Amino acid sequence: MCGIVGYIGNRQASTILLDGLRRLEYRGYDSAGVALCGASGLHIVKKAGRIDNLRQAVDDAKPEGTMGISHTRWATHGPATDENAHPHPDQGGKLVLVHNGVIENYQSLRDQLAAKGHTFHSQTDTEVLSHLVGTYFDESTEKDGAQRLVNAVKSALARVKGTYGIAVMHADLPGVIVGARLGSPLIIGLGKNEHFLASDVAAVVNHTRDVVYLNDYDIVTITKDSYDVQSHQGTPAEVKVSRVEFSADDAEKGDFPHYMLKEIYEQPQSLRNAMRGRLSRDECTAVLGGLNMSPRELAQIDRIILAGCGTAYHAAMVGEYLIETLARVPTEVEIASEFRYRNVPANKNTLQFVMSQSGETIDTLAAMREGQRKGIRCLGIVNTVGSTIARESDGGVYIHAGPEIGVAATKTFTSQVTILTLLSLLLGRIHHLSSVDGLEMIDQLEALPDKIVTILKQADKIKTIAEKHAHAEGMLFMGRQANYPVALEGALKMKEISYIYASGHPSAELKHGVIALVKPDMPSVFIAPDDAVFDKNVSNIEEVLARKGPVIAVTTEGRTELERLTQDVIYVPDCPSYLTPILNVIPLQLLSYYTAVARGCDVDKPRNLAKSVTVE
Ligand code: G6P
Repeated sequence: MCGIVGYIGNRQASTILLDGLRRLEYRGYDSAGVALCGASGLHIVKKAGRIDNLRQAVDDAKPEGTMGISHTRWATHGPATDENAHPHPDQGGKLVLVHNGVIENYQSLRDQLAAKGHTFHSQTDTEVLSHLVGTYFDESTEKDGAQRLVNAVKSALARVKGTYGIAVMHADLPGVIVGARLGSPLIIGLGKNEHFLASDVAAVVNHTRDVVYLNDYDIVTITKDSYDVQSHQGTPAEVKVSRVEFSADDAEKGDFPHYMLKEIYEQPQSLRNAMRGRLSRDECTAVLGGLNMSPRELAQIDRIILAGCGTAYHAAMVGEYLIETLARVPTEVEIASEFRYRNVPANKNTLQFVMSQSGETIDTLAAMREGQRKGIRCLGIVNTVGSTIARESDGGVYIHAGPEIGVAATKTFTSQVTILTLLSLLLGRIHHLSSVDGLEMIDQLEALPDKIVTILKQADKIKTIAEKHAHAEGMLFMGRQANYPVALEGALKMKEISYIYASGHPSAELKHGVIALVKPDMPSVFIAPDDAVFDKNVSNIEEVLARKGPVIAVTTEGRTELERLTQDVIYVPDCPSYLTPILNVIPLQLLSYYTAVARGCDVDKPRNLAKSVTVE
């Protein structure tokens, strides 16, 4: 949520910063701005709206400088206006700052500064921080310029309650950028005679793959030739240089019109990547070395907690069905933002998993830290290598889905569910699954990517169905058992990108309220695979049709009898019922995608949303 890019080196900074912001735009797109420091001093250009607006303004203003900081905003305090866009100058106008996070006590700090004569030009919490840093800088007698800025940042942050990733520079200090983090991600990109600061490696990966992931309470100083990381206490911090695994091309959309469509089509490969090296035919089980737990330790686990937000929460819900059905270990699923404020009973045999694509979602991170405070072993199921959850968890599993840029999560859902299936296989084999059962599961898992290819070939048919219903007033999504979370995920995708109000329900709950909504412009999407409750789903479909509600059905190849009831039937290949969520979600992803396109929506950047939610 909000993206920061800073650059210092020998090249003109504006092009590098704008390109970095474009790569971070998924983090927020309410406004954007750059500040450059050049021979003629400080230049700030900022604009409400998308990065393209800023690019136009930069083309007009042509600011010069080989160092600069920049920001793409997801608004928290104050609407998306030019004035509220970052960077924000201090009272004297010589210091500029960009910020990701929330300053919770900004109002009292603002009142104190206003009483001393400070004038504020925005409604943001951030502007208070730039004034505060500027005040400490101006008051300092420290001779070393860089240290003076570091000290000013430290003093200001000591007065702040909340979360931050920041980058700061001062017109009188050409050659130095200072950054700091607490709760919001920040990395250093290490180049040759140049350095970068960014919220995410995606912003720098076309310049360098060598990065340092900063920790909470780190303060960093970058010059073109050096970087230095200290803790708040002034002691040198632990620094580890990591190599980014993906290339800049992996984060481009290639020939696809949208990232979301590209990512939907990547699923055969992302599933293979999730499973690679993790299925042992010799031992008929899954191998998840990152859990850092022996079979004996895993056998002691008598309760599992899965926590996440948004799509990751839906994947966790599927996980509950999988783990309880296949491994018989009692499992509960928690919305991370609720878990962090609950007082969940736990014992030494409780195991917690936090699920997160970004590994940075603040509520999921907080749920993990709360679990750790209670002495629970907390593992991550994460996509982003080096993210905060990946670093702070007691172990875990990377889903290896590659960069996901579309704000609506797609491939990471199927990869998360795949990892939970591997976990169920591993635990199941420890408890009661035979080697024959294990081998059968491995065969079925390995067959999934080709089955996804078959579903993707029906994209034109799904597009036609989407266009037919694109102007519906609302949509209902129904599914049972492990496909109930898929119904929730289908409804979430539809809401997020097409702005059609949609809700997901267990099919049998229809009669307990939802059926009151059924009418001709309220289609119901039924996920009705060929399983033990197929006939029950068909009865529910009949009930909807009897009330003139249109039905779109997702079912298993061969169950052609549904064509008697509705023209809009989408078939998915047969598979064991525990794997149906992975296949059934794909038509729903395509349905929401083509609906959004038909409605002229901005698929990859839905209004008001951001991909990485680093504020509470
Ligand atoms: C935001 C995104 C969702 C995502 C959720 C959790 O709401 O828009 O797509 O599912 O955050 O994100 P995480 O990175 O923790 O999986």
